[in-house]
Amino acid sequence: MTTQRTTAIRPEPRTAAYDLGPLAFPEGFVWGAATACYQIEGAVAEDGRSASIWDTFSHTPGAVLNQDTGDVACDHFHRMPSDVALMRELKMASYRFSVAWPRVRPDGGAVNRAGLAFYDRLVDELLAHDVAPWLTLYHWDLPQALEDAGGWTNRDTAHRFADYAFSVYDVLGDRVPTWTTLNEPWCSAFLGYSAGHHAPGRQDGVAGLVAAHHLLLGHGIVVDELRRRADGAGDDIRLGLSLNLTVPDPFDPEDPADVDAARRIDGLHNRLFLDPIFKATYPEDVLEDTAHLDWGTGHWHEVVQDGDLELISSPIDVLGVNYYHGNAVSGHEHTAVMGLGADKPDRVALSPFVGSEHVTFPSRDLPVTAMGWEVQAEGLHRLLVRLDTDYRHLPIYLTETGAAYDDAPDPDGEVRDPERIAFLDDYLRAVHAAITDGVDVRGFFQWSLMDNFEWAFGYAKRFGLVHVDYDTQVRTPKSSAHWYAAVAERGGLTA
Ligand code: NOJ
Repeated sequence: MTTQRTTAIRPEPRTAAYDLGPLAFPEGFVWGAATACYQIEGAVAEDGRSASIWDTFSHTPGAVLNQDTGDVACDHFHRMPSDVALMRELKMASYRFSVAWPRVRPDGGAVNRAGLAFYDRLVDELLAHDVAPWLTLYHWDLPQALEDAGGWTNRDTAHRFADYAFSVYDVLGDRVPTWTTLNEPWCSAFLGYSAGHHAPGRQDGVAGLVAAHHLLLGHGIVVDELRRRADGAGDDIRLGLSLNLTVPDPFDPEDPADVDAARRIDGLHNRLFLDPIFKATYPEDVLEDTAHLDWGTGHWHEVVQDGDLELISSPIDVLGVNYYHGNAVSGHEHTAVMGLGADKPDRVALSPFVGSEHVTFPSRDLPVTAMGWEVQAEGLHRLLVRLDTDYRHLPIYLTETGAAYDDAPDPDGEVRDPERIAFLDDYLRAVHAAITDGVDVRGFFQWSLMDNFEWAFGYAKRFGLVHVDYDTQVRTPKSSAHWYAAVAERGGLTA
């Protein structure tokens, strides 16, 4: 049944905790920024790197806006030392980056020392500048050769991922304190294998679910083994992963169809990843919701083999949370939906899994960024409290949040982005409120250090603290970069 709904349900008002005046963050709170290799490095054919699924995808006509590719991106591969110096100038205590699997093990095969050497230099450069390295092993660039063998729908990919991870650890384990396995496995699985909006561009609901399990399995194998290796070597490391979690609110809390749609989104987006990691189980309702799909020969119960959940739930030390916005969720059709409509890939990704009924994301009356995403800091507060209450009290880091705006240099060359400053201020207040509520949030990585290749949107969306002129590769810190540096130096916000 579909009906047009008109009443917007607004998020709850801010609590008193948001108005504490000058907001100091706990001693040692980590102020940082994040990037990912394919989004900034360029140099896609240097030092033996092979193609990844994103090289193939971005070179597929129509896959990425304006046919943009990561071939050059921010040319960080060649500009790394000056980019690290800039991080120091901007008072970053930590830098979250990802390692390119196809540099380290081209085609998913043997170790390529020349490819690893770049990360060896990067880590040394960071340490020399007193910036703590935070390493992500998989930020979406699967070697194309492994995709050709089935990619994440092939269980063997989890083992190839582990081999790759161990070879990175062999070289960097002594100098990198924090290791996260996966970045946003929801995106890898569902945007990549079910919606087809991200590489490898497959459109198969079941493939997304199978990929999600194999991604988690790869995570589990790596955490289990790296823990052993670190203990053996006496390396003091912390292990975890970054999940993109959402806060799904029924558009109309009195409407059973909206309530059920919100439950289903919570299941697929949040619990499908959190439950196996923290509770060694998959949510029953998601399995029921997806039982009607055409599973071919391997049903869920065959995909998940004995011992998998034990591995996946190997204890982690830190949870990385990537949060940009929540969703109003409805079981009815709406004309005004959040996002950029046809240009907005991620919100249409769920339809194959949620049964025959509609799931939509109606707009609420909230400001939005250039992605069409709601500015919704209070959702972050609720999410952090929920993680602490429903899962485990463990150190949480905001490993990503940020906003795209249409930033451009003014005639005087300055890039002024007051909206981004307001956004970050808001989201940091939400983090502070969660800390006040007892949640153990230890750090904040702004997405992103610099403007970069925004996946299906190419270079059209700018998330950076630092503006990049893609013709000249000139970096210009925006006013938000100076603001954020001052926050980091002060250790908190002003009133
Ligand atoms: C999530 C991803 O991890 C990152 O690669 C992306 O650029 C940002 N969010 C913004 O969409």
